Amino acid sequence: MKKFPRIIDMGDFRLVKLEPTAQNAERLLSVINANREFLGEFLEWVDDYTTTDKTLANIEKSCGDDKCAYFIMVDGEIAGKIGFVDTDDNMGEISYWLAHGFNGRGIMTRALNKLTEMGFANMGLQRIQLTLDKQNIRSAAVALRCGYECEGILRKYFILRGQPRDMKMFSKVAE
Ligand SMILES: CC(C)(COP(=O)(O)OP(=O)(O)OC[C@H]1O[C@@H](n2cnc3c(N)ncnc32)[C@H](O)[C@@H]1OP(=O)(O)O)[C@@H](O)C(=O)NCCC(=O)NCCS
Repeated sequence: MKKFPRIIDMGDFRLVKLEPTAQNAERLLSVINANREFLGEFLEWVDDYTTTDKTLANIEKSCGDDKCAYFIMVDGEIAGKIGFVDTDDNMGEISYWLAHGFNGRGIMTRALNKLTEMGFANMGLQRIQLTLDKQNIRSAAVALRCGYECEGILRKYFILRGQPRDMKMFSKVAE
């Protein structure tokens, strides 16, 4: 089993595997509650996360040593999350979010560069992909800054708040 570090120091922020405690679940839920509209514009899971139990299950599922997934911590505060959500021997898909107050500092660009590097160097992936809402300009800018290329549009790819959404498929491949 591949093991990933529990903490990665990125200078002015850290990538951290949170311990699955009730206290951490409450902290995470309060960040989601405070950013519900901001995050819910593009992320379908947000409306589902309304209880500490559900939030705790998410921490348990994503923070094992065998998962390349991390909470983004700034001065001890939960600022966001980034991780591989789907992986096989060849390909991995990354998903991420950042609370509104931490936008505009380059945190996600640096976090995505770090996970991309880990995906190719530590996990031996040949392809890493991101599926972004067509309207998600900020996320597309992060992807482009990290050297991902847009491969095309996935029309009416999924339903968000009752509406079919077009998505953009971005990828980066091993050199
Ligand atoms: C998508 C999302 C992560 C983008 O966050 P972001 O703050 O724009 O991205 P970054 O952390 O990379 O910051 C980039 C900004 O910091 C600036 N910046 C400062 N220092 C920087 C550095 N060292 N490196 C790169 N950018 C830097 C950039 O110029 C850019 O500024 P701008 O906002 O004026 O264009 C965030 O808006 C979000 O989580 N949105 C809601 C959920 C979501 O859409 N998730 C993605 C689903 S696929």
